[in-house]
Amino acid sequence: MNDRTARAWRNWTVATMAPDGESNPLGVIAHGSLLVRGGRITWIGRDSDWPVEADHLPTQWGDGRLLTPGLIDCHTHLVFAGDRVADWRLRAAGESYAEIARRGGGILSTVRATRAASAEELFQTARVRMEAKGNEGITTVEIKSGYGLDVATERRMLDVVARLQRESPIAISATLLAAHAVPPEFAGRSDDYVDYVSREVVPACADVCEAIDVFCESIAFDTAQTERVFLAAREFGKGIKVHAEQLTLTGGAQLAARMGAWSADHLEYLDEAGARALAQSGTVATLLPGAYYFLRERQQPPVALLRDLGVPMAVATDYNPGSSPLNSILLAANMAVTMFGLTPEEALVGITRHAARALRREDQIGTLEIGKQADLAIWDSRDPCELVYAIGGTKPIEVYQAGRKLELK
Ligand code: NIG
Ligand code: FE
Repeated sequence: MNDRTARAWRNWTVATMAPDGESNPLGVIAHGSLLVRGGRITWIGRDSDWPVEADHLPTQWGDGRLLTPGLIDCHTHLVFAGDRVADWRLRAAGESYAEIARRGGGILSTVRATRAASAEELFQTARVRMEAKGNEGITTVEIKSGYGLDVATERRMLDVVARLQRESPIAISATLLAAHAVPPEFAGRSDDYVDYVSREVVPACADVCEAIDVFCESIAFDTAQTERVFLAAREFGKGIKVHAEQLTLTGGAQLAARMGAWSADHLEYLDEAGARALAQSGTVATLLPGAYYFLRERQQPPVALLRDLGVPMAVATDYNPGSSPLNSILLAANMAVTMFGLTPEEALVGITRHAARALRREDQIGTLEIGKQADLAIWDSRDPCELVYAIGGTKPIEVYQAGRKLELK
């Protein structure tokens, strides 16, 4: 009991996010307490069961206020240069995302800006975006490359992510998304680009990413090409994930599930066979209502089917300049309820427990349980659903990453 990092949290409304029977899907413990040592949770339960030998520890009293796990944004493209206001104007005037992309706008316009930006410029803009994450109670963020589309720029983006990881208190999971679009130097030769990605970009970036993602879509890569990138990922022991069934049904989710993907993301056009494949492989369905909203999509992901089949659903911002300039995970969660029909509880689990699973970190983060990292957010509320009820703007009072307090700006 002489651990100087030990700290007690007593008398909180603790939403563990680990379900406790059907009537308590968020595992809420009223008058809950927990003990943190060395950045991990070593005891959690009702305060009436509090271990007396821990009575002398420095204690943070909750008076019934809400304590949750730190939130997780498991799908972002947070490192990029420039903006896509011009695209947005065109879409406001009636052009589609796919048309703009086919004409060389869209993702490729952000590629031009990102290739022209220095590592320092990319870092400074991303750092500000990361601060906003901490201010909202986020303790883990996934960040993808994908605006470089060549070895040098994909690597530069991932090196920026590595620097963010060193200099920011928020944990990061880095993903290589070199197969995001076909770059101009490979125009009309998408198979050659897939070869280049598999043979050159993946090996050059394998040491700075945990997972590899592919945009499997009519305007990007087909399932055969997606599979080739996944096979390269597998060779380097990397996790795989996919952007799939966002604009059309291609079968990308089914392929990814068959190959043991961590997550399949977007899924507006997912069919029953795809949903069954996700269920069978335990692949997380990551829903991205920001992109659905911003692209004025009409087709909703098959939430009822996913629910019935027991597919874990995560919710994320997809923060990026083109399809989802949304940096608020709580707003994404609110949209998942209002637009996709998740329950507030499903949305909360989607930005904690299931988001952790989408990053294959569920044994470390995402719930408040013994042995997990003490990633905590405290809120001036007594009801966890209130966090996703407001249309954005809700802020935590304090946030802790592995037991260490974040400085909120
Ligand atoms: O998740 N779908 C592909 N990628 C991003 C969009 C990126 C962009 O438009 O810049 C997405 O929606
Ligand atoms: Fe995305």
